[in-house]
Amino acid sequence: MIQVENLKKSFKQSENSIDILKNLNLEVKKGQKVGILGQSGSGKSTFLSLMSGLDTPDTGEIRINGVNTTKLSEKEWTQFRAKNISIVFQQYHLVGHLTAVENVMLPLEILGHSSKDAHEKAIALLGEVGLKDRSHHLPNQLSGGESQRVAIARALITTPNLLLADEPSGNLDQETGMKVMNLFFDITSKFNTTTLLVTHNEQLASRCDVVYKLSQGRFEKL
Ligand SMILES: Nc1ncnc2c1ncn2[C@@H]1O[C@H](COP(=O)(O)OP(=O)(O)OP(=O)(O)O)[C@@H](O)[C@H]1O
Ligand SMILES: [Mg+2]
Repeated sequence: MIQVENLKKSFKQSENSIDILKNLNLEVKKGQKVGILGQSGSGKSTFLSLMSGLDTPDTGEIRINGVNTTKLSEKEWTQFRAKNISIVFQQYHLVGHLTAVENVMLPLEILGHSSKDAHEKAIALLGEVGLKDRSHHLPNQLSGGESQRVAIARALITTPNLLLADEPSGNLDQETGMKVMNLFFDITSKFNTTTLLVTHNEQLASRCDVVYKLSQGRFEKL
């Protein structure tokens, strides 16, 4: 499903160039959940940006479902991402003037589904995350945990081939974070969603099928 080979990424800072990812290799099977740990600044979010095509590697290859994404143009990436990849961030990034159900519908509408179809699926998914009765709330009328559940529903409505999650419970109190992540694992297991989960929480990472620590620009299997 995913093959990453010899991935390298450095950032130029005035005269200097800092190597963040030095030689990353990774193989992920369909439906597998991969936990990624690593110190702050080790390059976890950078790695997810490369996987989602929001940034480009210096060298190396990323294959997702057989497609060498490092060869895609920006336009091709936009289409490929819409069809295949969803992202959940620590900040929920909901669209402020859209209700919960409209936020969840959005990715399907972008893919050209009818409003009726998108609405039906969005309501069903909001039910799955326990928010049917919050469908018409705006983001500023939702709690943090509720917002993140909407973001998870929005991420999964397209049944993506790959789900990227960057500290999805990082903004939530421990108890709410735990509940949201229980739901996250329930739904991704039910949908058999291939998932890369970046977290600082070792206990959370250990719920994944395999755990890597990003250190010195490389993955170390734990
Ligand atoms: N656009 C950029 N220009 C220069 N340096 C950058 C850029 N983006 C990231 N970096 C640097 O790359 C390093 C890795 O950043 P990254 O955000 O990937 O870390 P992280 O592992 O996600 O950390 P955290 O756990 O704090 O979120 C950091 O030292 C950061 O300063
Ligand atoms: Mg980060």
